[in-house]
Amino acid sequence: MAVKDQKGFNDNVGKGDLTKVTKQLWRENCFPEWGTWLNEEIEDTIVPEGNFAMWWLGCTGIWVKTPEDANICIDLWVGVGKRGKRVWDKPYSQGKDFQMYHMNGGPTYQPNTRYTPMVIDPFEIKKVDAILSTHMHRDHIDQYVAAAIVQNFDDVPFIGPKFSCDVWRNWGVPEERLVEVRPGDVIKIKDMEIVAVDSFDRTALITSPLQAADMRGVCPTDMDDRAVSYIIKTPGGNLYHSGDSHYSNMYFKHGKDHKIDVALASFGENPAGLTDKMTSVDCLRMAECLNAKVLIPYHHDIWNNMLADPMEIEYLYQFKAPRLDYQFKVYIWQVGGSYMYPRDQDKKRFMFKRGFEDAFTDEPNLPFKSFL
Ligand SMILES: [Fe+2]
Ligand SMILES: [Fe+2]
Repeated sequence: MAVKDQKGFNDNVGKGDLTKVTKQLWRENCFPEWGTWLNEEIEDTIVPEGNFAMWWLGCTGIWVKTPEDANICIDLWVGVGKRGKRVWDKPYSQGKDFQMYHMNGGPTYQPNTRYTPMVIDPFEIKKVDAILSTHMHRDHIDQYVAAAIVQNFDDVPFIGPKFSCDVWRNWGVPEERLVEVRPGDVIKIKDMEIVAVDSFDRTALITSPLQAADMRGVCPTDMDDRAVSYIIKTPGGNLYHSGDSHYSNMYFKHGKDHKIDVALASFGENPAGLTDKMTSVDCLRMAECLNAKVLIPYHHDIWNNMLADPMEIEYLYQFKAPRLDYQFKVYIWQVGGSYMYPRDQDKKRFMFKRGFEDAFTDEPNLPFKSFL
């Protein structure tokens, strides 16, 4: 009795018999929350010449599409964080494998629950040219996505640094589909060029996969094995996908070496005792260093305990831009939203299409007349 047509609003599935409405049915009918809405929107979008389009899939998940219909999906994560509370309320010594323990030696009871809805169904992806991961953290690489792509496509490559490829290999992605990249590597797909560049994700140096030995200095850690960032070069402009990178002066070098139009900055509210995301100031400094045209924060949406309000970046921008003569703009996005560059370069905030453009064009029995 699961609703297969994805039309939604399936709130009468029991048809008078609530015994038919099960937990399993609820899961099948209501998740992913957006069904195939965004899949269809992406498929149906024709990118105008001289532009590139992208969609925010939550966290640092980004879909990029070009005029020649190159489609890549970066860091898509459709998994979940913690789903039970009490199991985590135990002495940290029992939860040592959890990433948060490695970050600062603290206990593991943080409420790392997923805040953002699932806006895309990986099993319903009909066309994609590559799946990319910036690093191996669980919110940047996904087993369900890997399974869906391996099951539904014969030749779509999985592109990522060594540690991401190790994770994919471990899950069963065929060896011939793994493309290991390091900074400097370039991959061409139709009218798109993917350039791997240095990541500055210090968290990735000290966290999972379990590297307790690293922390004692036994085992070398090579940032390039663990994480990369990507510059996606398109006919419409270049996108800088920084993964989970922290602030680094090396952004200045990347800005010298590459033309950057849109920069995605991993923003978040760092809890006291932890530095994992860029602050609002870091994000502004990043965009300035990269000489970007547009700064867009991301990642601040996904974890309950690190939720941040991007309006903070807008406020600071107003404060600092006149004095520092910023040459970039700030754009505040929403998960599930699209952004096209350069078409949208002067916009400041995203809003979903409201869809009542044709109101009052049809006038049958009009119940609203009673309100006039
Ligand atoms: Fe990460
Ligand atoms: Fe992350």
